Amino acid sequence: MRGLSLPAATLLALCGLAGPARAQESQTPPLVHQHWSFDGILGTFDNAAAQRGFMVYQQVCSACHSMKQMYYRNLTGIGLNDDEIKAIAGSVQVPGPLDENGAPTERPGLPSDHFKSPFANDTAARAANGGALPPDQSVLEKAREGGADYIFAVLTGYSDAPAGMKMQQGMNYNRFFPGNQIAMPQPLHGNDVTYTDGTPSSLDQEAHDVTTFLAFAANPELNGRHQMGVKVVLFLAFLTGLTYAVKRKIWADVH
Ligand code: HEC
Repeated sequence: MRGLSLPAATLLALCGLAGPARAQESQTPPLVHQHWSFDGILGTFDNAAAQRGFMVYQQVCSACHSMKQMYYRNLTGIGLNDDEIKAIAGSVQVPGPLDENGAPTERPGLPSDHFKSPFANDTAARAANGGALPPDQSVLEKAREGGADYIFAVLTGYSDAPAGMKMQQGMNYNRFFPGNQIAMPQPLHGNDVTYTDGTPSSLDQEAHDVTTFLAFAANPELNGRHQMGVKVVLFLAFLTGLTYAVKRKIWADVH
């Protein structure tokens, strides 16, 4: 390192550190872009898909992943009505007020409650998952590079490990997870839920739907923002036309 300036040495050290991580990442193929209803500047969430996705979250993912920032009442955003939301919230038990002896009680959930978490705390969550923490899914779609395409890829990226790859104990091979070893056992296989709208629940369909729901959770204001965008553009077009017509009228007699 003699003769090397400090910045250059630091850079070298950083490259050294980044090296192995990058080598690991290079084992994951590029993400395949899926078609999402919420793509683009005018895209909006497909409510039917998001509702099916909520069903998948509720029946499969919520066994391990919390969504602490979601309230049951937020489900109005995917088109569920008040009665449906009351029923969903009411189906879980949450801590209630202390009783007259000071003992903890439970009460049915309300639309104003947060989504119930599967574990009391992170330590309990790790203990139940071989030491790995299932990340909270409230904003996962926004927090991960590749967003929806990444989540879909992880959910559909399981297979047997290639011959010769040494798997750590309790880990599962996944093409798209950085490092290719993931603690989450394959959560979806197809036919994990029975959709009430009759959509066949293939693996791809379930993965697509639950990812749509997670994208909604991470961007609850997107539909409103994009619909407002359309209105603003229409209004501006109207205003331009009006301004032009007025200008023509005012200047009509000036030669
Ligand atoms: C049996 C428990 C369990 C279930 C059920 C489960 N997961 Fe996971 N999940 C985990 C654990 C543990 C991790 C952390 C993996 C790791 O760090 O190796 C994880 C990680 C993930 C990741 C990768 C996140 C990252 O850090 O990049 C995604 C995406 C994910 N889960 C989505 C889902 C979805 C969607 C469902 C429902 C269809 C689901 N999981 C069901 C336990 C579970």
